[in-house]
Amino acid sequence: MQLIMLGAPGAGKGTQAAKLAKKFSIPQISTGDMFRAAVKDGTALGKQAKSFMDAGKLVPDEVTIGIVRERLGKDDCANGFILDGFPRTVEQADALAKILDGLGKKISCVPNIHVPAEDLIERAVGRRICRQCGATYHVKFHPPKVDGVCTDCGGELYQRADDNADTMKNRLSVYEASTRPLIDYYKAAGVYVEIDGTQSIDKVTEDLLNVLTSVQ
Ligand code: AP5
Ligand code: MG
Ligand code: ZN
Repeated sequence: MQLIMLGAPGAGKGTQAAKLAKKFSIPQISTGDMFRAAVKDGTALGKQAKSFMDAGKLVPDEVTIGIVRERLGKDDCANGFILDGFPRTVEQADALAKILDGLGKKISCVPNIHVPAEDLIERAVGRRICRQCGATYHVKFHPPKVDGVCTDCGGELYQRADDNADTMKNRLSVYEASTRPLIDYYKAAGVYVEIDGTQSIDKVTEDLLNVLTSVQ
């Protein structure tokens, strides 16, 4: 099963992709996570990506497409994958179609987690992430049992550098201009499904699983 999770910044793509990846035993491929790991490791890719991410802008397409092409060629993608945060431009979507063609695969389904703009800043600003295992929390909507400590592994929770109200405004306008057109793009391809992302995390997962029962 080849899935693309669409949705604005903070809509819940990562939260849901992680749950589906576990359920279907296929990898979650988050370009944002890959860039953040590269920034942390101080690699050339990380140095290139950091200024774009901190400003809430997109990393250039040629860089992003290159890392996804390489990732999708790995053995663990043989039975499918969940793309989280890619594609984000029509150019990336066209490139993905070519990459999948080359691998003899096609997109199974593109769920769009829809959350109104006014909720998204609160979701991002309250997000906390585990340094050790990457689990995602929210101070209000999905708090850890102990403040600042991961319930799953005991790791320390941190806040992403781009999760502040100012950068979020840029991320949301970049989404409107560059990523929203992918809704029509995947509707035209007949693989688009809209999911109500304002419901609880578990209810969103339930809706996704219902949709995916009829998908290969
Ligand atoms: P990326 O890491 O992909 O960030 P994003 O798209 O802005 O999305 P987020 O990760 O912020 O949100 P999410 O939808 O995953 O929400 P989450 O599940 O965490 O990208 C970061 C940057 O990297 C970009 O700005 C860009 O610079 C670069 N980049 C990445 N991909 C790129 C690409 N393809 N091309 C170019 N540049 C790229 O949930 C958010 C919060 O809400 C959490 O706290 C969570 O607990 C909570 N929550 C989740 N679901 C619910 C719910 N149902 N109810 C209440 N709270 C909820
Ligand atoms: Mg995410
Ligand atoms: Zn953890």
